[in-house]
Amino acid sequence: MEELYALLAALHRPCRRQGPGSAETSRLAMRLAGLEQAKGLKIADIGCGTGASSLLLAEDLAAEVTAVDFLPVFLEELQQRARARSLADRIRPLACSMTELPFADNEFDALWAEGSVYNMGFENGIRTWRRFLKPEGMLVLSEITWLSDVVPAEIRAYWEKEYPEIATASGKIAALERNGYSPVAYFALPENCWRENYYDPLRERFSVFLAEQGHSDRAREIVAMEEQEMALYEKFHQFYGYGMYIARKRA
Ligand SMILES: C[S@@+](CC[C@H](N)C(=O)[O-])C[C@H]1O[C@@H](n2cnc3c(N)ncnc32)[C@H](O)[C@@H]1O
Repeated sequence: MEELYALLAALHRPCRRQGPGSAETSRLAMRLAGLEQAKGLKIADIGCGTGASSLLLAEDLAAEVTAVDFLPVFLEELQQRARARSLADRIRPLACSMTELPFADNEFDALWAEGSVYNMGFENGIRTWRRFLKPEGMLVLSEITWLSDVVPAEIRAYWEKEYPEIATASGKIAALERNGYSPVAYFALPENCWRENYYDPLRERFSVFLAEQGHSDRAREIVAMEEQEMALYEKFHQFYGYGMYIARKRA
């Protein structure tokens, strides 16, 4: 497992982001969450990777950001990027599992998690993290979501094996309501978030990564796995994508 994570980190580290997304959609989520006008915000970016959204939250909102990831290599990269943009004093990196966050109750104005909560399961994550939010605090996260109720068997079988909690937006919104949040907004990420911003730069890395790893069997397996995911997205992207969920903690 250690070796797998090290290889995944080596592959993804140079990329601007480690999952689908964009500055535009993060900014839209900030607006919909009503964070734009606020001052002195404390935000935790959970599963931040190399910090695409942490940097934006620190820059656009002048927020104090705690950037959490369990891969220290990503946090090192984030710190370099933060220094290059003179944002290091607003971003506190924290190497920690999202299942064991050392935060106090009511500590944060907002919790941010782009493409990461699935690692502990959507409902487990929103239930566990809720206490870290101030009353009326905002939860913003993106999550793999069915875009249609009717889905071809091939892609349904793939996702139900990879992530059985995949659901339509109405299912995710119901989970938010069940767990003490009032849903505020939802939108589906556009396709450029997947292609131009995530898969294209990742694909460009494959040959260098394989050379760096001496074309090892494990490295080739990882590239094959990523290529399979990309091929499925090309074939079935009208049926699934990332949904962005914005919800307020019910007091
Ligand atoms: C799909 S990436 C998204 C990264 C970033 N939010 C973005 O949008 O570019 C998921 C991130 O979650 C992190 N992660 C996975 N499991 C984790 C865990 N148990 N605790 C903390 N971070 C975790 C990974 O290292 C990775 O950086």
